Amino acid sequence: MHVVILGSAAGGGLPQWNCRCPICSLARSDPSRVKPRTQSSIAVSPDGERWLLVNASPDIRQQISDNAVLHPREGLRHSPIHAVLLTNGDVDHVAGLLTLREGQPFTLYGTAGILGSVTDNRVFDVMAAEVVRREPIRLNAAFEPVPGLTVTLFSVPGKVPLWLEDETMEIGAETETTVGAMIEANGRCLAYIPGCARVTDDLKARIAGVDALLFDGTVLLDDDMIRAGVGTKTGWRMGHVPMTGSGGSIEALADVAIGRRIFVHINNTNPVLVEASAERERIESLNWTVAHDGLALAL
Ligand code: MLT
Ligand code: MN
Ligand code: ZN
Repeated sequence: MHVVILGSAAGGGLPQWNCRCPICSLARSDPSRVKPRTQSSIAVSPDGERWLLVNASPDIRQQISDNAVLHPREGLRHSPIHAVLLTNGDVDHVAGLLTLREGQPFTLYGTAGILGSVTDNRVFDVMAAEVVRREPIRLNAAFEPVPGLTVTLFSVPGKVPLWLEDETMEIGAETETTVGAMIEANGRCLAYIPGCARVTDDLKARIAGVDALLFDGTVLLDDDMIRAGVGTKTGWRMGHVPMTGSGGSIEALADVAIGRRIFVHINNTNPVLVEASAERERIESLNWTVAHDGLALAL
């Protein structure tokens, strides 16, 4: 199985357009110390020919341009992207659909709830329904978005997208609005979970034995954004479990058998983004990799 991390940053990317926090500033002034990163998406293929995009980032145009495997290869109009799967309805995971509007056929997969929030919004009709088939997927039921690639969606603790929040929303609910994807090909297994509010025993059992885990790396500590002085929201409030501290993912997953452990969806306030920082070294000493754009895995 071929996996390319197209975008390793959380919503906003790195640097974020309006942010002068130390990490965004370093990404502008010294990319050797903080690599710029685009917003959250991966591409997966069983054969290197036909690709599934998981999440459609606002930066998708640049991501396709930067990764030759996703360039058109035959005829006048073509794309190796056969399907797109959404793991939630966040802007950083759906806005890129608006770029895929040039009459190119593909299938769009997601749970009924996630697909519904997208199709309810008429701006997404730019992906003409005759050309882009919408296929709702049930949780815990395997499907094959690309021949040779099997995917199973499962619920993880999360919340509705920011733009759908209201007084009834529940943080940490396990519904179909935030899902993880178990992706299998040629007997190898990848778990992709870019958003997760809490590590549960169910989740640990589900991912035990995977060859690689790409996991929510939004915040190092629950109060990263408050420490950085850029906001008032905790990781929990945003539906993201911290890497460290109370209930942190590194400790919670320490005893689970996992081939490679890689953080994705990293917010621009997370100090692990700084190369050779104490925080980066600590994460790496605990066997975790901090993803960067273009990181490729051959599983
Ligand atoms: C998140 O992951 O918390 C969201 O992408 C936030 C947002 O939509 O900006
Ligand atoms: Mn996000
Ligand atoms: Zn910033």
